[in-house]
This record gives sequence, C-alpha cells and structure tokens, in this order.
Amino acid sequence: MRKNIVAGNWKMNKNLQEGIALAKELNEALTADKPNCDVVICTPFIHLASVTPIVDKSIIGVGAENCADKVSGAYTGEVSAEMVASTGAEYVILGHSERRAYYHETEAILEEKVKLALANNLTPIFCIGEVLEEREANKQNEVVESQLSSVFSLSSEDFSKIVLAYEPVWAIGTGKTATADQAQEIHAFIRSLIVKKYGNEVADNTSILYGGSCKPSNAKELFANPDVDGGLIGGAALKVADFKGIIDAFK
Ligand code: PGA
Repeated sequence: MRKNIVAGNWKMNKNLQEGIALAKELNEALTADKPNCDVVICTPFIHLASVTPIVDKSIIGVGAENCADKVSGAYTGEVSAEMVASTGAEYVILGHSERRAYYHETEAILEEKVKLALANNLTPIFCIGEVLEEREANKQNEVVESQLSSVFSLSSEDFSKIVLAYEPVWAIGTGKTATADQAQEIHAFIRSLIVKKYGNEVADNTSILYGGSCKPSNAKELFANPDVDGGLIGGAALKVADFKGIIDAFK
C-alpha cells in the first residue's frame, strides 16, 4: 500500500544557521517521539549538504525544492539533479506553483526535470493545482489533467517512483484551505486518471499529498480522506511545534 508522507517546503526561508537549527530541533523531536508516517524536509539548495548528515535518515528524508532541466554545463546559477543527489538528498519538489508562475516552468521543462531527478535516484514530489479563477470556473479537473501530462509520459515503472502533491494555488499561503470534501473529490479524480493511464495497482500505490494552508488544526480532517495521503507543508514547516502537530495527525 501507498505511504503516508508529510513533507515540509521551506521555500526561500532560513539562512544556513537557522536552517541547521530547525533541522536539529525537528530531528530531536521526531527521534524522541517517532512519527507514524514518512517525513521529508525540502530545503533551499545551500542547506542540503549541512542538513543531510544531522538528521536520522530512517526518520527524516531530505529534499531540494527544485533542480535544473539540464544535465550539466554552462547554465550559470543552476543546480543539477546530480548535484542535489550528491548532498545525500533523496527528494526534489518539482512543478511547485511558485516555480510555474514566477519562473515560467512549462510542462516540457518539468518533464525534463522529472526525468533527470529519476535518473539520479531522487524522488520527485510533483505539484499540480489550479488557480482561483480556474476553480471559480469549475476547471480544476481539466487543469490538473493537463499538468499531469509532464509525468504521464513516464513508463509505469518510473511513474511508480514519484509522489504527487495537489496544491490549489488559492490555498497556498493564504490561510484558505480546501475543505476536506474538496480535497477528497479532486484527489479521487487524480487517482482515477492514474488508474486510466497505469492501472489500479500503480494508482493504489501512488501517494497524493494535499498542500495549501495545512496546519495542525485541519491536518487530521484532511488526511482522514481515503485519497489524501499526507501533506506538503509551507509556512507550518518552519516551526517544529506546528510541523510536528501536522505529522501527529497520523497518530
Ligand atoms: P503553505 O504552502 O502551507 O504555506 O500554504 C504550501 C506549499 O506551497 O507547498
């Protein structure tokens, strides 16, 4: 059966010293009180090599928030999937709505990134989700279906290695959360698309996380849905008490 996962997305927060302190504090909290789900922290690139050795790998996985769509070479300022993997990181968030909106990441670019991540044994946490106008026009299903094209070109074996995150853009950092019913409805739709493309077994084994203003107070209700397999957490991942509160929703 699929895994339940709570993944933190630090975004562009915390300098190196603050990031190390946060990772240490989280590691202490979770070694003292073991989680009932997989836990991942996705940090800015500069933190990765310092954070991977200080967390217990059997409890906390570490990931990047992005990687390049090229293997290597003259791409000033970019960080490749191979470089991410060489830090000991095991995951990478790809296709986050902030990358799509502010850095113009298209489905074709994301398809390259996903392939390079997989080629370097990183688990992509692939994000999809509609903006407010699309939700208001009841177009959320079409939107997520077209965003999935970047990963539906994968072989069944490769698709089985990825994690999906449904994040309605109108709920990210806004304090507005999708209701548990809205989350279940679209997660079930996403799983039905995976059934059509790859069959029941692959669909049953795919973890689909919910993201967007997830907090300790709403995590339990969201994660109780049969098709919601955990969360991708932004703001609340920056404080150990909040992040652990969300992780504890699986207890
Ligand atoms: P949020 O962000 O929890 O702060 O809404 C979620 C995300 O963007 O991954």
